[in-house]
Amino acid sequence: MKLADNKATLSFSNGSPSIEMPVYSGSIGPDVIDIRKLYGQTGMFTYDPGFLSTASCQSAITFIDGDKGELLYRGYPIEQLANHGDYLDTCYLLLKGELPDAKQSTDFHKLVNNHTMVNEQMQFFLRCFRRDAHPMAVMTGLVGALSAFYHDSTDINNPEHREISAIRLIAKLPTLVAMSYKYGVGQPFMYPQNSLSYSGNFLRMMFGVPCEDYVVNPVLERALDRIFILHADHEQNASTSTVRLCGSSGTNPFAAVAAGVACLWGPAHGGANEACLKMLDDIQKMGGISKVGEFMEQVKDKNSGVKLMGFGHRVYKNYDPRAKLMQETCNEVLAELGLENDPLFKLAKQVEKIALEDDYFVSRKLYPNVDFYSGIVQRAIGIPVNLFTGVFALARTVGWIAQLNEMIGDPEYKIGRPRQLFTGSPRLNVPGAK
Ligand code: ACO
Repeated sequence: MKLADNKATLSFSNGSPSIEMPVYSGSIGPDVIDIRKLYGQTGMFTYDPGFLSTASCQSAITFIDGDKGELLYRGYPIEQLANHGDYLDTCYLLLKGELPDAKQSTDFHKLVNNHTMVNEQMQFFLRCFRRDAHPMAVMTGLVGALSAFYHDSTDINNPEHREISAIRLIAKLPTLVAMSYKYGVGQPFMYPQNSLSYSGNFLRMMFGVPCEDYVVNPVLERALDRIFILHADHEQNASTSTVRLCGSSGTNPFAAVAAGVACLWGPAHGGANEACLKMLDDIQKMGGISKVGEFMEQVKDKNSGVKLMGFGHRVYKNYDPRAKLMQETCNEVLAELGLENDPLFKLAKQVEKIALEDDYFVSRKLYPNVDFYSGIVQRAIGIPVNLFTGVFALARTVGWIAQLNEMIGDPEYKIGRPRQLFTGSPRLNVPGAK
């Protein structure tokens, strides 16, 4: 970042002296006012719950222009990455800052493939969960437990540990997500098959069984790879900020990523694709397409507490560029599987159509987000609804690690410690105490 030409001046109506604060510019995007000395100079904090106007760090990884609907990973537009190359090349880009050449790409694919198996003991840990446990509860536990199984790569200050833990996390997450699925349905775990692509391998571990050969469908393989690319990073969202804050204490990468998994689970974040499918099921139970209008009236009624899941975004006030790409993939997958006339998918199209035309959504710039379509695609592929967020976590793991590693390498990095505006009781005495 560099100092901007102008400075910010903060003045007070009570006659306290005004103070000047430096302004910094990044390469693109809004400038920031540096308020680090504010408390020292004024004894005051800033107040910004939800971080609506606060940049919590400097980062060179992902850039979003929410008004334009633009998303760049290390400068490359998401559309180009989704249409050329694969998920592991995107992982390389996010981690290392540049796209791999042919040899680097082959080596990186091999490296990740070498780490797809998990410690055999992990299945016994997994077997302690209830069979009907939510996969995100299981994933939070399994990812945290990686620090117990891979104790030789837990020193966040050691670059080699960071490198190997990054590869382990990227390689093992598909295996763990598939294992939590297989456990829930009572089928044997499928070991990874490293001759397959990253997404092909995941499909086989999910839907293959040991007694039959599994043939990967290339349309579904590509669709899944695209879901992974589109979800790989999204700058300082809630789960990424959670990973950074958790990692800022110096905890190990597995523990920090487990915190990210836990945060992602929430319905306002990664849980939205699951919540979106549940919403479509509910409308279906109300009577299907004929009831969409009635449902929309509930959404628009602020007292109902009903939201249109899969719509709206804190940053995008235009079409989410990932949603456009996912919409294409959605149409391809539905056509491949002959599901264009499936009632649920028809219902989703109707919801989308009404919302895009309705003044309530148009005036508030509420567009479908990536989760609206990714849920539909995953459902069509056969991924159960309660595993959607697990698939998102798998894809986002690389972003969490890239952001965590960037933070550790930042000379300005400090343990995260927000302040507060205290509104509770001032000092009281317990009866009888002095
Ligand atoms: N349905 C109905 N109304 C909505 C929705 C929605 N999905 N989203 C926002 N609004 C309304 C709000 O009620 C508010 O209306 P008002 O101005 O009349 O009070 C206005 O639009 C602005 O909304 P905010 O709450 O200020 O938007 P914010 O940036 O805080 O919220 C969020 C963003 C949380 C994503 C919200 O849009 C939402 O809950 N959407 C549904 C959940 C979802 O799809 N989340 C996925 C996010 S993407 C991701 O994590 C990959």
